[in-house]
Amino acid sequence: MFPELRMRRLRSLKLIKETRLSKDELILPLFIDEHIAKGKKPIASMPGQYRFSIEESVNEVAEARSLGIKSVLLFGIPAKKDEGGSESFNKNGVVQRAVRRIREELGDDVVIITDLCLCEYTTHGHCGLIENGKVVNDPTLEILGKIAVSQAEAGADIVAPSGMMDGMVMAIRKALDEEGFIDTAIMSYAAKYNSALYGPFREAADSGYKFGDRSSYQMECANAHEALREVELDINEGADIVMVKPALFYLDIISRVRARFENVPLAAYNVSGEYTMMEVASENGYLRKNEVMMEALTAIKRAGADLIITYYAKEAAKLL
Ligand code: PBG
Ligand code: ZN
Repeated sequence: MFPELRMRRLRSLKLIKETRLSKDELILPLFIDEHIAKGKKPIASMPGQYRFSIEESVNEVAEARSLGIKSVLLFGIPAKKDEGGSESFNKNGVVQRAVRRIREELGDDVVIITDLCLCEYTTHGHCGLIENGKVVNDPTLEILGKIAVSQAEAGADIVAPSGMMDGMVMAIRKALDEEGFIDTAIMSYAAKYNSALYGPFREAADSGYKFGDRSSYQMECANAHEALREVELDINEGADIVMVKPALFYLDIISRVRARFENVPLAAYNVSGEYTMMEVASENGYLRKNEVMMEALTAIKRAGADLIITYYAKEAAKLL
């Protein structure tokens, strides 16, 4: 007890650091826009972030690799949308072409994850097919299987279904295995909340919905037990990695998932709204950017995440 025991004695030596971040657990999300023929365009809602042409995305991934980042998560913005989101499983769709080009240039030196959802590809902007004004689950599963196969064919290492449809992991595993893609992994957005923090992303990925909201498929923020159930189901359906999203407002969920399912790889998505809050406050001089960024990422790791998807991946890697 005090006064013999003094916690400040050791603290002032700065010797003990329980949680250590490393570059290779950061995943960089990238937006690839089929409308852009060359170069990149800034995303207004996410200062410092860009949409890339297919060719420019290859350079961006190469740069991320050179900074020590192992993995990227690709989102596609197609030139053409329709009611059924058919571009999402086009062999020559924007994401499929980008995956092939990145693979051609960088070989197996990068882990390519593809976001697997319909919302960027449909005119209505929902994550599933619509019948009578409602997002229907089971007919959507068939499309998700097709998207998975087209992404795996292009060379994705991991597909990441983000639409929160029931049975999506099982349907995707089955579709992949039937086509022989037994080594393609699934990172499931298992506990994805219906969050206001996705606002900036919807501009970035052009995936805003035209009616209703996402509350029939994404989770209510007040619910934690339900998240554990969602994660358990996805593990049982064959998810190789499960994800909690968003990260910073949901550290308790990350921590509870970690405690309950000790042996499953766990990812957390530090989403667009979290990025923009920190970035805009830093730009205005109200927060010190490097400090708040590293504090946020350390908190996500400390809560229990093995992998962190973050728009700050490059900047954090430079500091690590
Ligand atoms: C769409 C999707 C979203 C994000 C990833 N995939 C947005 C949404 O569900 O509305 C959010 C990512 C972010 O905000 O950074 N399935
Ligand atoms: Zn979606």
